[in-house]
Amino acid sequence: MSFFPSEVVCRQLALAAFLGCWTFLAASRVFSADGRDAPPTAKDVQERKILDVLDDLDKHHRRGNMNVPVEDGRLLRLLVEAIDAKTVVEIGTSNGYSGIWMCLGLRKTGGRLITHDIDEGRAAQARKNFARAGVDDIVTLVMGDAHETIGRIEGPVDLVFIDAEKSGYPDYLEQMLPRVRPGGLIVAHNTSMRSAAMAKFNKMIQTDPRLETLYFHVDNQGISVSLKKR
Ligand SMILES: C[S@@+](CC[C@H](N)C(=O)[O-])C[C@H]1O[C@@H](n2cnc3c(N)ncnc32)[C@H](O)[C@@H]1O
Repeated sequence: MSFFPSEVVCRQLALAAFLGCWTFLAASRVFSADGRDAPPTAKDVQERKILDVLDDLDKHHRRGNMNVPVEDGRLLRLLVEAIDAKTVVEIGTSNGYSGIWMCLGLRKTGGRLITHDIDEGRAAQARKNFARAGVDDIVTLVMGDAHETIGRIEGPVDLVFIDAEKSGYPDYLEQMLPRVRPGGLIVAHNTSMRSAAMAKFNKMIQTDPRLETLYFHVDNQGISVSLKKR
């Protein structure tokens, strides 16, 4: 019996080594820059602090809070910063998760967030979370039924994010559209939801000639972005 492996065994060993190396490289960062979303990186200490709070909320405090997924939070921040938003209105604060994502952008634009909720329990958590993230100085939390409270907002608003009860979306749109500046954005969450109210809202943003609407993350919960044309 020979100590040297047969040609077939050699080939199998070479193949196994090749597959092993490829799997290792694919699992490592060598092949990870593949055109998909990578985790956000912090530009400075302030961003690190906010991202750490967002990471904690994402991993440990989602239950009962109906927060947007991370990818939608990141899209909101990107939009806020890209349009240099100074005044952002949110309808549906919950514990502040999506609001903090928007504050990440507002910190850079020198803007502020006016956010609305009807539930005191979630709003109390939001106040704590805004303070933890160090953004409480740029946030105004308005309590009450947003169908009434948004009537007090004086424009111009750069971006409105609608994420409260779905049956209210058509009214929120009607009330906010005149307050959003030309070139501003109306963003709405859960637009992939199948319900009569959401169908009505989707039709409104798709057919209104004053708006240009695109949808993102449609295979998850869906988020619409409508530009109020100039
Ligand atoms: C889906 S959650 C918001 C999640 C939040 N945008 C986030 O991603 O962190 C909806 C919130 O809207 C609030 N809400 C529901 N109806 C409302 C109303 N009529 N006026 C104000 N807030 C309302 C609820 O209390 C709840 O906190």
